[in-house]
Formats: sequence, structure tokens, C-alpha cells
Amino acid sequence: MGIHKPVMLKECLDIVLHEKPNVWADLTLGSGGHTSEVLRELREKAIPLDLVFLSDADPRAIELFKKEKLSAIREYLGPNTELIIENLWLSEAISKLREFLAEERFLRKNVVIMVDLGISLDQVEFREGFGYKHDTPLDMRFNPTQGVPASELIGSLSIDHLSDILKNYGEIRHPYKLARAIKSAHSRGRLRTTGDLVKVLKANVPEVILKKTLHKVFQALRIAVNDELGDLKRFTEKLRDLELDMQITLLALTYHSLERRVIKPLRSKWRLLKKLRPTEEEIKENPSSRSAILYIFRYSPLGKTCR
Ligand SMILES: C[S@@+](CC[C@H](N)C(=O)[O-])C[C@H]1O[C@@H](n2cnc3c(N)ncnc32)[C@H](O)[C@@H]1O
Repeated sequence: MGIHKPVMLKECLDIVLHEKPNVWADLTLGSGGHTSEVLRELREKAIPLDLVFLSDADPRAIELFKKEKLSAIREYLGPNTELIIENLWLSEAISKLREFLAEERFLRKNVVIMVDLGISLDQVEFREGFGYKHDTPLDMRFNPTQGVPASELIGSLSIDHLSDILKNYGEIRHPYKLARAIKSAHSRGRLRTTGDLVKVLKANVPEVILKKTLHKVFQALRIAVNDELGDLKRFTEKLRDLELDMQITLLALTYHSLERRVIKPLRSKWRLLKKLRPTEEEIKENPSSRSAILYIFRYSPLGKTCR
């Protein structure tokens, strides 16, 4: 069973219930925390959906969702709701969703799309390479059938390139020194697991900033391994170019400034309705929500209101 707690769930539910959408698309399904609650609430308020589109880059998240939550989810859907569940990157998912939305039956409909970026606690705890608390192979791929694991990526990079990744994706203060130490461990065959990486960092980082640095280095490598920002950029560009006759609301949960930098240019074509942060109470209950900012963007053709 998943341990991930959906972030800013109440805020997301308030927006979805206010929108009364015809289409719900969750493109970072994860453990299905947001989607399960959204669909349950829509059912309870008797708001019918024409299409539910669910996707994630992690095929294991999709499989687990199907195994553990799908039958309950079906109970919340009406007899005419079409359900699509796919293993896709954001940039692929938006193209696929667009194909559906271009159908005549969705003209003037009201669409809500959610993206909850980064990783889930389930990935940190149960998948290889994402967390530094357990010793697992240094992989970090959302989809283990695509790309190369972190350990291999490190082997293929120059010290300068690795240093840039640590600086740009992890905001590490002395990236070159760390990059050199990581590469050196790799070339001696001592960088196969997360435990190996932790050892390198312990030997090179003062104790007072060790935890923060571990977090940042793991984040930087994960972003590079999965080309997360590249995919997010392609996704936002495709969103900006959507020319559909319907109202679309995007809920984008971001966790660091790099994601926000990529998502903000959407404002050139979409309206930023709101920007929300978690309450102190939620941060206390779920520390993973601490850095979250929820952006609510609106695409509305010629200012029309749809449903
Ligand atoms: C924070 S979790 C989502 C949690 C989910 N909202 C829930 O409540 O269970 C982020 C999910 O997004 C997926 N993800 C991250 N970047 C992605 C991308 N560029 N394309 C597709 N999926 C992505 C991850 O695999 C992960 O399952």
C-alpha cells in the first residue's frame, strides 16, 4: 500500500469542485492520491465526467495503481465515463490528451489537468536509487526500461559536466569539489549504490550541511537522469500551443525554483489565477509539502466560460 500523502489536497479539491469539470486529467498519477479523492468527491457531488485521463512516467506506479486502486476508482465513475490509463512522460501525455480533446464531443467542455511534479514518497522508499536512507542500486530512473541509470550517467560525464548538473539542478555551493570526488569513486568502481554515494558525500561535506547536501545531490542527479526539466519544458510549450475551443484549468504543484522557472512562461498565453502555499498545519503533518507552491493557470478561448 502507498505511503505518499497527496500535497495540498484540500486546495486542489476546492478548485476542482468549483470548476465542475467534464474532463479530469492527472498526468503525474503517482500513487493516485489526488485522483482517488477528486473522483470520489465528484461522484459524491453527482458531477459527471466524460473522460478521465491518467498517466505517469513510472510504469510501476501505473501497475500498482491498477492493482490497488482501480476497482475502487471504477465505482466513482459513471457508466458513460471513458477511462484512459497510460505510462507516458508529461510531454507525451499532453499530445495524447490533445488528440482526445480535439474530438467534437469535447467542444466547449471544461477540462482540469493536474501535474504534481517531482517524486512520491513511494518512489523514495520503494524504488532503486531515489532515497539515501536505504542502500539500493544507484538507478533513479522513473522508467527503468528507458535511458541510463544514475551510476552509468555519472561514468559518462566529465567532471565539469557533472559539476554543472550539481550546480544547476541542486544549487550545490562547491560543485566541482564534489563532482571530482564522485567521479573518482566511480572510476575506482566504488559508486554502484546509494550507500556508496552517501559515503562519498560524508567524506567530503561538513556534518552540519550533510543532510541538506544529500537531498540536493540526489535531486540534481534524479533531474538529470530523467531529463525532468526538459520534459516539463516540452510539456509547457505544447500547452502554450494548444488551440482548442474549451476551457482548461491547470493545477501545477511545484517543489523547487527550477520547476517554477520552467512553468512560469505559460503566463504569456494562459492566465495565472492563483498561487497557493500549504498551510502551517499541513507542513507539520506532511513535511514533504514544505516547499510546495500550487499554481492555477487558466486557458480560455476568447474569454468564454464552458461546461
Ligand atoms: C509527487 S508524485 C505524484 C503523487 C500523486 N499526485 C499522488 O497524490 O499520489 C510525482 C509523480 O510524477 C511522476 N513524474 C515526475 N516527472 C514526470 C514527467 N516529466 N512525466 C511524467 N511523470 C512524471 C513521478 O513518476 C511520480 O509518480
